[in-house]
Amino acid sequence: MEQTLSIIKPDAVKKNVIGEIVKRFESNGLKIKAMKMIKMSQKDAEGFYYVHRERPFYKSLAEFMSSGPVVVIVLEGKDAIKKNRDLMGATDPKKADKGTIRADFADNIEQNAVHGSDSVESAKFEIPFFFSSMEMVN
Ligand code: CMP
Repeated sequence: MEQTLSIIKPDAVKKNVIGEIVKRFESNGLKIKAMKMIKMSQKDAEGFYYVHRERPFYKSLAEFMSSGPVVVIVLEGKDAIKKNRDLMGATDPKKADKGTIRADFADNIEQNAVHGSDSVESAKFEIPFFFSSMEMVN
């Protein structure tokens, strides 16, 4: 069993598609281990995306991620990291396969509906960034 962090980003929350996205996780064998809606500050979002601090889109990305509520979710399952990334589709929705979350709900490469951990190491940083062990109740 593996765990991964998913974020339903502010653009998808505004579009009222939280339920549709969560349904895709559940119907593809990923279990909701923990979930909550939060609003990050610019500083919170910069901390979360610290690995991207040298990228030209870093400030804008943190501004977008703190522009409204997001839903943070810990997903658990066999090969959860890859399974979640397959369900999400490519970072750029224009390049995402048909039927993926980003192809269906994302607007552009920045406002791309969802985030998912890209490795076991990232998941180990990202999950405790948002959740205490007390919140991992399922
Ligand atoms: P995410 O999977 O959350 O990981 C990093 C995020 O940076 C990515 O999704 C996008 O929201 C954003 N991002 C990646 N590449 C670009 C880019 N070229 N321009 C703007 N934003 C980007």
